[in-house]
Amino acid sequence: MEQKILFITDKPLRKNLLSKIFKNHGENSELVFTENAESGIKIIKKNNIKAIFASEQLPDMDGYDFLYRIKKMNISIPVILIFEERNEAMVSEAIKKGALDCVLRNTRSFYAYPFVLDRAIARYELETERAEREWLISESQKLWVAVIDGIRDYILITDNELKIFRANKALSEMFNKHPKDLIGLSLSGLFGDDTAKMLKEMSDDRISKTEEKIIGEQTYLISVFPFNYNDKDFNIYVMKNISEMYRLKEQLYHSYKLASLGLLISGIAHEINNPITGIITYAELLKMKSKDEQITTGLQKMLNGAERCKHIIENLLTFSRQKSPSRTLESVNDIIDRTIELRSYWLRKNNIEIIRKYSEVPFTLIDPQQIQLVILNILLNAEHAIVDSGIENGKVTFETLFNTDKSKIIINISDNGCGIPQNIISRIFDPFFTTKPVGTGTGLGLSIAHGIIAEHGGEIKVESKKDEGTTFIIELPYEKQSKGNVQIIT
Ligand SMILES: Nc1ncnc2c1ncn2[C@@H]1O[C@H](COP(=O)(O)OP(=O)(O)OP(=O)(O)O)[C@@H](O)[C@H]1O
Ligand SMILES: [Mg+2]
Repeated sequence: MEQKILFITDKPLRKNLLSKIFKNHGENSELVFTENAESGIKIIKKNNIKAIFASEQLPDMDGYDFLYRIKKMNISIPVILIFEERNEAMVSEAIKKGALDCVLRNTRSFYAYPFVLDRAIARYELETERAEREWLISESQKLWVAVIDGIRDYILITDNELKIFRANKALSEMFNKHPKDLIGLSLSGLFGDDTAKMLKEMSDDRISKTEEKIIGEQTYLISVFPFNYNDKDFNIYVMKNISEMYRLKEQLYHSYKLASLGLLISGIAHEINNPITGIITYAELLKMKSKDEQITTGLQKMLNGAERCKHIIENLLTFSRQKSPSRTLESVNDIIDRTIELRSYWLRKNNIEIIRKYSEVPFTLIDPQQIQLVILNILLNAEHAIVDSGIENGKVTFETLFNTDKSKIIINISDNGCGIPQNIISRIFDPFFTTKPVGTGTGLGLSIAHGIIAEHGGEIKVESKKDEGTTFIIELPYEKQSKGNVQIIT
């Protein structure tokens, strides 16, 4: 659309002369004339207006109101106000309110209009450019703050006296504060003396560096970057909490260790299995043939030892997960009953009472042999803890529950034995951790139980008080339908 120059005035103007003057000046834009502000605004909305000459007094509003109106309408066109007579105060008022220049309405001044317009447009472009630049600067500052606040590591800038100059949102949130509230605080005021001292030491030599540090119970990777601004020294600290990463690394390392241990164990166990079977078979054969009592007793001792080795090997093989689980729909109450049955002689012998607190628990998909092994291992430990504590009325309570909400089957097994001291409770599920005398326990019972329950997608926990007793809590997910290729027996 062709550009136009708009004149808004109800005063006489000598339009033809003005058009000629602008043309002679080399101005191609058409001149458009209207008498009041309202009609002027209509023209502005419909046309491509290059600049506006408007009277300082219009029939419907004064020039200042007009300036205010178009500013409010977000119309950005250079405006030159036309005065009837010279009045410096009014001119400076007009410029203050947004007019780019002022002219007088008389024939002599008309000749100056194109020059005033050129000057006004140049000024307008300069101002627009400056405003854009300022806008860009303020936007980029806002973006920068948003970027720094978007980083979830803690970022902190201090001056040389270790007063906080800037802090990002992540850091301020750690202290339940707004970033602004941290400005001006001292490092020791925020982190305490020890941490402040450590941070200061990191920046003392004014060399960028990254170090691992412990603050409270968390491990941080802290980088310090010294810099100079306006001839003053500052430090940027970037702190990343790596405690979780550490924990995961250790967990990973632990599972690697277990996996390689499992491989090693299964190799050795398989190698020993055959010779032991040979020893047992031949010892039994010889025992049957032997008539000498001393030799028979010796052979029986040999058999006992070999049987014990076989038992340990079986445990080791289970630990290294050589058996793949075969799941069927089973009742955990029945499995517990069967396990107790297995130990009935010993339970009677040690005068241990069994208390059953069964709930109606639905059949669920589990490997019955493996779950039986879990219950057996826990029961054996309970028996041992009761015998160890020397109490007369030993009790083992089996409680089953069905949590319909969370679709979990819960088995609680409690004993009133010696209990587990707090300092070892975190290690009882570790493979080969045992407090039993050499030759009695392998320390595999609970790690096998833990592995089996984990393979079932469940959890096993322990609660214990020394000299009062122990409770093992097993949570199994309730699964009534086979998800994979397993057989369901109903
Ligand atoms: N009910 C319990 N009461 C007290 N201590 C227990 C109980 N259950 C386990 N513990 C402790 O946890 C340790 C580890 O148990 P775990 O069953 O893994 O190995 P173990 O019984 O020592 O040996 P294994 O079961 O291989 O014969 C035990 O040595 C014992 O110190
Ligand atoms: Mg055990």
